[in-house]
Amino acid sequence: MANKRILITGATSGIGHSLFEQYSELGEQVIACGRNQLQLQKMQKLAYKTCAFDITIKSEIAAYAESIESLDILILNAGNCRYIDNAKQFDGELFADVVTTNLISLGWLLEYFLPKVKPGGQVVFISSSATIVPFPRSEAYGASKAGIDYLAKSLRLDLAKEEIDVTLVHPGFIKTPLTNKNDFTMPFLLTSEVAATKIINAVNQRKKYAHFPKRLTLLLKFFSFLPASIWQKIILRDQK
Ligand SMILES: NC(=O)c1ccc[n+]([C@@H]2O[C@H](COP(=O)([O-])OP(=O)(O)OC[C@H]3O[C@@H](n4cnc5c(N)ncnc54)[C@H](OP(=O)(O)O)[C@@H]3O)[C@@H](O)[C@H]2O)c1
Repeated sequence: MANKRILITGATSGIGHSLFEQYSELGEQVIACGRNQLQLQKMQKLAYKTCAFDITIKSEIAAYAESIESLDILILNAGNCRYIDNAKQFDGELFADVVTTNLISLGWLLEYFLPKVKPGGQVVFISSSATIVPFPRSEAYGASKAGIDYLAKSLRLDLAKEEIDVTLVHPGFIKTPLTNKNDFTMPFLLTSEVAATKIINAVNQRKKYAHFPKRLTLLLKFFSFLPASIWQKIILRDQK
């Protein structure tokens, strides 16, 4: 079978980097994207191509998109997480930064890369299990990821006639530089390697939706059916 050409945003670190390594080992042609030039240089040997651009800057995306002919799989993984530490003194700049990086950027990435995805191709959105129930301090991150959920589900309907499948992914806690900053307990933490394997399996099966680890995501789904007051008591139980 011919090698697949796969573009991954956020391939320089964490989940995206593990996806890059595993797809490269499988012999796929990976176009690895990120801003970290040093890291991209190190990846050049394995990569089909490396692209250094900021996903929030339309002109940078446009410049790289010109050099890419066609894609089998577009994996929109790059993202950032910052918390709202004082809701009453709401930090609008922080909110705008997170929503721009995680959600607004997807508009630019889709504008330039979706036309390159061949019929029979796939688009993969790395959202978060944080959208299943609300978490404290996650107003910015959760809102951006909830936006991704709707974007992915709506796009799936419109891409059906183009024969392009959409996979929405809800990872739980994964050990990466993004979560290394967290100062709270992260239940059922997985490695980025395990997360990447689960994502690749879901993409291979052309799943519409993948969530893991199930022992976390199924629990969150159960809580999402309960009255909001019960979830509030559970999630705020350690707060005074
Ligand atoms: N880790 C978790 O527990 C977890 C759980 C659920 C969902 N997720 C989602 O999974 C995705 C990957 O997260 P991760 O944990 O692997 O994080 P990570 O290790 O911090 O990696 C983030 C990646 O995104 C890229 N990136 C961030 N801002 C960018 C920008 N403005 N322009 C271009 N690239 C940018 C970074 O590239 P450079 O450093 O090269 O700029 C890096 O490669 C994110 O969307 C995250 O929300 C993670």
